[in-house]
Amino acid sequence: MELDVDASERFLMKRLAGKVALVTGGARGIGAATAKVFAQHGAHVVIADILDDLGTNLAHSINGRYIHCDVSVEPDVESAINLAITWKGKLDVIFNNAGISGSDGSTTAIDMEQVKRVISVNLNGIIHGIKYAAKAMIKGGQGGSIICTSSSAAIMGGLGGHGYTSSKAAITGLVRSCACELGKEGIRVNCISPHGVPSEMLVSAYRRLLGQEEMGVEEVSKIVGERGSLLKGRAATVEDVANAAVFLASEESGFITGHNLVIDGGYTSGCSTMSFIYQ
Ligand SMILES: NC(=O)c1ccc[n+]([C@@H]2O[C@H](COP(=O)([O-])OP(=O)(O)OC[C@H]3O[C@@H](n4cnc5c(N)ncnc54)[C@H](O)[C@@H]3O)[C@@H](O)[C@H]2O)c1
Repeated sequence: MELDVDASERFLMKRLAGKVALVTGGARGIGAATAKVFAQHGAHVVIADILDDLGTNLAHSINGRYIHCDVSVEPDVESAINLAITWKGKLDVIFNNAGISGSDGSTTAIDMEQVKRVISVNLNGIIHGIKYAAKAMIKGGQGGSIICTSSSAAIMGGLGGHGYTSSKAAITGLVRSCACELGKEGIRVNCISPHGVPSEMLVSAYRRLLGQEEMGVEEVSKIVGERGSLLKGRAATVEDVANAAVFLASEESGFITGHNLVIDGGYTSGCSTMSFIYQ
């Protein structure tokens, strides 16, 4: 078999060389992994988060910038985008990734203040990000890539609280809607739907729901690998999601817009409980 030199060179090269990217929720978890992988691929990265110590340290380690930004506060998001423009003169990529899980519980006892908070971070935060990123990208005239974090909970019920699920489902509609408008400007708008990534968010949810305070990343990965993936024994990692974000940020995905890239080890595609039919 002939070696595909082009493919191996593409793999090794810096796929985001010179691009300027903003990552919200970039201080830890999926956002932090993405900020690191973006930087490894040559991007200049601004991290926007509310965890100032973690965010500042990470930004320092990747030669990036950090800004305190609560994505539910519109002027905070505008300031984060302005920082990227002041620093490097343009914005090529925004990863609208900040999110919270909100509360669980029955719909009959739903706490509307909690729902409002989840929507204000998970959905309004993304609207803010798209608004100011699109403005900057249109002004710059170079197009861009807008990536938003939705969830497997947007596809299947039963994977998150009602407020969280509503916010994540709304993101997929918002992304399609904005892709329709912004395509003419060369701006692509996509979302990523992770599932079962053992970040602080997921591990603390498992601890809370199973009442096992001592649970850690390894145990959660094991459970997800056994029950939450068609790839038995394989759970998601934060890097799996980061690598997908690199693809959507890079020119390799240049003809992809309005898409929801699901990163779930096939979990929402079907179940394997009747796998005996394949024998
Ligand atoms: N972990 C999973 O299995 C999973 C699955 C599907 C979707 N997601 C989504 O992935 C995204 C990242 O979550 P994660 O799993 O890395 O969890 P995480 O809790 O480790 O990271 C979330 C980050 O967002 C930041 N953040 C929270 N509220 C913010 C606000 N108001 N303004 C700015 N930053 C804020 C946090 O400080 C943190 O750095 C979220 O949108 C989450 O809903 C995660």
